Amino acid sequence: MSTGGNEGDPWWASAVVYQVYPRSFADADGDGIGDLPGLVNRLPYLSGLGVDAIWLSPFYPSPLKDGGYDVSDYTDVDPRLGTLGDFDALIDGARKHHIRVIVDLVPNHCSSDHPLFKKALAAPAGSVERALFIFRDGRGPDGGEPPNNWPSQFGGPAWTRVPDGQWYLHLFDSSQPDWNWRDPRVGAMFEEILRFWLDRGIGGFRVDVAHGLFKDPQLADVADVTLTNRPSAYYHRPEVHTVYRRWREILDSYPSDGFPGARTAVGEVWADSAATLKAYLADDELPQIFNFDLVRAKWSPTAVREAIETTHEFADGSRAPWVIGNHDVVRPVTRWGVDAARAAALLLLALPGSAYIYQGEELGLPEVEDIPDDARRDPTFRRTGGMEVGRDGCRVPLPWSAAGASFGFSRTDPDFDPAPPWLPQPPGWGALSVAVQSGDPGSFLSLYRAALRLRREHPALGVGPDGGDAMRWLDAPDQALFFARDPGFVFAVNLGDSAVPLPPHSAVLLASGPLGADGGGRATLPRDTAAWLTAGLQERPVLTAGVQERPVMCVRKIRAPSGRHGGADSGTAQGRNAGRARERAQPQARGRV
Ligand code: GLC
Repeated sequence: MSTGGNEGDPWWASAVVYQVYPRSFADADGDGIGDLPGLVNRLPYLSGLGVDAIWLSPFYPSPLKDGGYDVSDYTDVDPRLGTLGDFDALIDGARKHHIRVIVDLVPNHCSSDHPLFKKALAAPAGSVERALFIFRDGRGPDGGEPPNNWPSQFGGPAWTRVPDGQWYLHLFDSSQPDWNWRDPRVGAMFEEILRFWLDRGIGGFRVDVAHGLFKDPQLADVADVTLTNRPSAYYHRPEVHTVYRRWREILDSYPSDGFPGARTAVGEVWADSAATLKAYLADDELPQIFNFDLVRAKWSPTAVREAIETTHEFADGSRAPWVIGNHDVVRPVTRWGVDAARAAALLLLALPGSAYIYQGEELGLPEVEDIPDDARRDPTFRRTGGMEVGRDGCRVPLPWSAAGASFGFSRTDPDFDPAPPWLPQPPGWGALSVAVQSGDPGSFLSLYRAALRLRREHPALGVGPDGGDAMRWLDAPDQALFFARDPGFVFAVNLGDSAVPLPPHSAVLLASGPLGADGGGRATLPRDTAAWLTAGLQERPVLTAGVQERPVMCVRKIRAPSGRHGGADSGTAQGRNAGRARERAQPQARGRV
């Protein structure tokens, strides 16, 4: 059941995809780590929310040095998260709810625990075992300097020395050695991995660091050692496109009819320009790549409009899904403010194409900023000597119930005491739980449920009948953005400080907060509020009762966010550097630094 799509559009063109970070979603066995059976138990919740697919962040065996993005076996399930049988049960259960499963593929690097890396370490310099990775002699008199000046994305140099004196390359943590994609065995291995999961019935892949993989064969020094997402000696090498052409052939070799239908691959590509991004979307390459423009935008009418227009320079939302958060960036509530995050949710779901929701966004969870240093797990924290706190704050296990051990995150049955969650939850977490919000018509969760229901039903939403480009800017006051989508839909958001009149409409379908009224009784849109409207020439001086009487949300009780109007450039190395590379004069959102 993809939303708002047309005959012939693949399901993913309009899909609302929910990102599950499995260790933090739901814990069925009570060990404090979320797992696949926990996710299976919560499928009815996701079905009730109304999502079309799940993107499952890594669930593979991993020493968890980088939250699972350090994979030691690409074709199995981490025993702490379940078994392959549990994965199959997930696919079956999800199918019953008509939900597809997209899995995360991490092709740039593996874990230093991967058996092939262990073999490489045990083998001599110059061996075929080492050729699967990027080993080099060092520079300087005794080879004691790294082979080049490349930086790790997580801080420090991108090289680590092994006991025999050679160095290996890792663009991320030292526990994440980069594969040598110039060795054909690597490509062959990943093709098998693709087929392994496709044969199990998945709907596609999210491709981690899709702009990585190939490195300049000379491994030449870079002129600029600050991190960059520009095409460089280590990112956006032209050779990477041959891989995606091959993968596209594999994806397309699976039937596109029936369920799960046409298989997709959505690339995580951080880039400096629309032109760089566009190359990945050639007709025979990746079906989709994320657009991170809204993630990077500050909450202002010019920045948000520019983010939407920049995306349209390289794709429409069906090929470049809209995103406001993920497991790598500061949560929208903290980045933009509670009301703005609610308004942004309605924006996200009104834009043409597909949208991704990161778990907990639908609950309005804030970034948890006061995690004690000794509980932090993100390698960024360690590799920068605590200068950057890292991404743990958006990965805190979800609250399902108002009270009880880990607020319902872990199995709770009488006489069973679950282990504490792997990241500590703040004391007030229960007030934001699914149970509390389910009973509150003004909650974040109720807003998301209503928006997803309307999106499914309204013919203008999703891709819409005119394809992914189908939105038309309408005249609006400077502080607001209004756009129309056919048939008969108008979106309005006020990003300024004072109320503005609503654009002409015949009915209010949904609003992110209470609407106001002017002296003549006409509806107004308060600051940081968005509305979905039925287009109509006649403005009605009437407010929809349900909208006007929307109670103040429980989520207002959370700590005041510090960066109401900030962008997310401090959220990740990628975000920060992409932001810099694009030379947007954005204020530092809220320092992780
Ligand atoms: C991607 C992931 C991030 C991870 C990194 C290295 O950017 O989203 O979480 O740390 O790749 O795998």
